Formats: sequence, structure tokens, C-alpha cells
Amino acid sequence: MSTVVTLIPGDGIGPSITEATVKLMEAAGAKVDWDERLAGVAALDTHHTPIPEETLEGIRRTRVALKGPLTTPVGTGFRSINVALRKEFDLYANVRPALTLQTGGRYEDIDLVLIRENTEGLYVGVEHYIGMGDDPRAAAESVMIITRFGAERIVRYAFEYAVSHGRRKVTLAHKANILKYTQGLFLDIGRDIAKEYEGRVEFEDRIIDATAMLLVLNPYQFDVLVMENMFGDILSDQMAGLVGGLGMAPGGNIGKDAAIFEPVHGSAPDIAGRGIANPTAMMLAGCMLLEHLGEHDVSTRIRTAITTTLEARKVVTPDVGGTARTEEYAEAVIRALK
Ligand code: NAI
Ligand code: MG
Repeated sequence: MSTVVTLIPGDGIGPSITEATVKLMEAAGAKVDWDERLAGVAALDTHHTPIPEETLEGIRRTRVALKGPLTTPVGTGFRSINVALRKEFDLYANVRPALTLQTGGRYEDIDLVLIRENTEGLYVGVEHYIGMGDDPRAAAESVMIITRFGAERIVRYAFEYAVSHGRRKVTLAHKANILKYTQGLFLDIGRDIAKEYEGRVEFEDRIIDATAMLLVLNPYQFDVLVMENMFGDILSDQMAGLVGGLGMAPGGNIGKDAAIFEPVHGSAPDIAGRGIANPTAMMLAGCMLLEHLGEHDVSTRIRTAITTTLEARKVVTPDVGGTARTEEYAEAVIRALK
């Protein structure tokens, strides 16, 4: 039986990488029925809002979505529609794997997973200017919010992920040496949760800046990494760089009641409309979605076809050293399906 999945093509390069991904998933025999909905700039003309109610209603019904990148239009009252979507469905865990698929890059055999807290930290949007004298913007404040509830569930998610995926170690990256309250609480809670997994999953904590350096120097010492929202935002892009760039990095936003899979990258306005976007990140997001639905065989077939195509290097997009267009690469991956 097929599962109905909400499909949001998104903005910029979104529609082209979505089309490539949907074709590939269909060719691979994924048992998915797409329910296409609009969001982002693409929704503005028809719905006058970047997050139409019928899109939210669609996700509420299907509880699972594949989403292209969304551009947050200026002046619509949304700080970020992506952040708004994650909040609406309480998608508290952002799972971002970094896996080498093409040899000959800066590193070989990278296989890391970053688990980013997705609802708290500095991204809660508690910020304002402070006026002084005749300067209304003499200062500005953003509040970092860490709750016991939020920290517990994300660290536990990281450990449960490690257990269910046969991973050996969880590294909690933090800045508790300076932000003694917010990051201190996150670290203390992390250490408590880690005790529950003693003997099953190794645990370490590291300061975030040192983690960033070590990820470049020797990424192999890491396995699963867990951290608060903004640190995870930054380090997940860095980790995408370890495996060939943003075109290769998928992510899943997971909550108790819903999950939205998407590439880590944005709508890439600098290359939008040129037909050269790398759809791999979106295809891998599709694989994560299939695994979420229990369709592991189809996912594995797609992953193998992607790796084969990237390794052959004949038909790959410019960001990974080729000259192929988005649809040519997608067709090559489809031909590589076994
Ligand atoms: P971006 O990720 O769109 O682009 C950064 C750089 O990476 C650009 O040079 C772009 O051409 C390249 N790139 C990204 N994806 C690529 C792909 N698949 N193939 C080849 N090259 C690729 O980040 P940027 O420019 O900062 O953001 C653009 C817009 O996207 C903004 O409106 C931002 O808010 C939004 N955004 C949305 C996200 C989401 O929907 N989850 C995530 C990040 C940004
Ligand atoms: Mg980001």
C-alpha cells in the first residue's frame, strides 16, 4: 500500500531538484503518493502567505513531507518560514548526516550524523533593539533559551539514534565554559542522560569551537554529534563541506507527530533557473523519508545508484566537478538503478 506524502517543491532551485527526486523515487518503485502543496515565495501569489493553511493541513493529515528549500519573503511577518514550520509541528530533532559518496574529495569515508536541537536556543526569536538617547538601535539583544524539557529530549534522541543505528559514540558540543547557564544546563542534562546509556554508547563533551577545528583536522574521531540550534546550524554546513558541499547534504526534521525531510541547503538564488543545481541532497532527503516509512530496500537502491553515478563522474553537476544539468544527472541515476 502506498503512503500519502506531502510534497513542497519550494523556491529557487527547489522545483527542479524536486522534479528530479520525484522521478527517481518513482523509477525506483517507492510506494508513495504525492500530495503537492505550496509554500514560500511560490505560495505568495495565490495564497498571499508563505505558509498557506491548506499546506499545514496537508502535513497534519499525512504527517510526513518532502520539502524543497524555501525563501523567506521580506516583510511577510515571518522571521523564517522554515523555523515556523519546525515550530508548528514541533519538529525538535534535526538529523543531518554527512556521508562521503564520491571519492577523491578532501576526505574519504566520512560518516557522521549531526543531531541539532530545532526549536530552542537563539532561534526562538526573542530579540529586540534597545534605544538610547536619539538612537533607537543603540544596542540589540537576542535571548538564548534552553529548557530542561528541550535539552533532555534532544540528547535522548541522539542516544536513541546511536543505539538504533549501531553508532558507537555521542559527542555533545557546547559552550558551557562561557555561557554557564544556558549551555551549562544543556551540558549537565546531557551528562545525566548519557549515564542511562553507559556501556552501550560512549559519551564525550567538547567545546564547540574546538569541535569545529577537530572536525577539519580529524573528523574520524566523531560519530554522532548533538548540540543546540545555532551551533548545529553552523556545524552542519561545515560537515556538508567535508563531503563535497551543500549539494550532498540532506536533513530530516523529526517530531513526535510529523517529519519533514529536506536538503540542508537553501534556494540558491545565484544558480536558480540555470538548470545546474545538484539534486543529490534532495534525493538523499527522499531516501531518509523512505527509511522513515520503512521502505529500506527502495532507499538502498537509490543510494547505490547515486553513489555509482557520482563515482563514475561522467554525468555529474558542476558543483561536484562535472558539466551535467540537473535532469541529465537525474536520468543517469535512474539508469544506474539496479
Ligand atoms: P544556499 O544554501 O541557498 O546557497 C549557498 C551556496 O551553495 C550558493 O552558492 C548556492 O549556489 C550553493 N548551493 C546550494 N545548494 C546547491 C545545490 N543543490 N547545487 C549546487 N549548488 C548549491 O544559501 P543562501 O544563498 O544563504 O540562501 C538562499 C535562500 O535560501 C535564503 O532565502 C535562505 O533563507 C533560504 N534557505 C532556506 C533553507 C531551507 O529551506 N531549509 C535553508 C537555508 C537557506
Ligand atoms: Mg543553515
